[in-house]
Amino acid sequence: MRRFYLPTLLLLLLGLASGQTGQSYIDTELQRLIQAGGQNYSNTLLRQAPDQALCSIHRNKLPAEVLGPFIEEQRKNIKYPADGKLMGDWKQGEPIFNTLARGNCFSCHVGSPLNIGGNVGPSLEKYGQRGTSEAVQKYTYEVIYNTWAYFPCTVMYRFGHGGLLKPEEIAHVVAYLLDPASDFNTKPALKR
Ligand code: HEC
Repeated sequence: MRRFYLPTLLLLLLGLASGQTGQSYIDTELQRLIQAGGQNYSNTLLRQAPDQALCSIHRNKLPAEVLGPFIEEQRKNIKYPADGKLMGDWKQGEPIFNTLARGNCFSCHVGSPLNIGGNVGPSLEKYGQRGTSEAVQKYTYEVIYNTWAYFPCTVMYRFGHGGLLKPEEIAHVVAYLLDPASDFNTKPALKR
């Protein structure tokens, strides 16, 4: 009896401990809200991904105390291209930006010389004027990989996070926006 009891107890404690350390801030905060909110949260909400559910509960405006750890957790999951280059080939980025079934960027952003841009998001016209410093490349890459690392709960797709674009493809889009030789920066944007 004793022999059986001790290892079982140890295993149980180990399991509990690892469960707790594996718990993310977002999961913990969501569970706290659900417990506090009782019946107020519908099943639909509970079936959302935990970060999306937090955005929904707060109507896309996270309270100040949630914002910091939320952003930190969004940043942690960003992956980079294997070769470490955040700026790829702008010619390969062009069709991604300008194709509905790929990046669909033009539907929300003005700036492309190939498509009349939409205005859901800010204009990216002459985006390349920001230069190609490491900081600008990193910001641009990370915004496209996981927009919520900078603009929590915004409508822009989280291309890398959602598996819509591979890291290398995102680097090509970064080049399309930043490379001084890119048509995006040398040709006029199409606008309404
Ligand atoms: C559904 C609409 C939508 C789509 C599609 C979309 N975006 Fe966005 N994007 C936004 C919005 C909205 C913001 C601003 C975020 C905010 O203020 O909440 C934004 C912000 C950005 C920013 C930061 C702008 C700045 O001035 O710093 C960049 C860069 C960007 N988007 C690039 C892209 C690229 C590249 C794509 C395609 C791969 C894309 N977006 C697709 C809506 C969209």
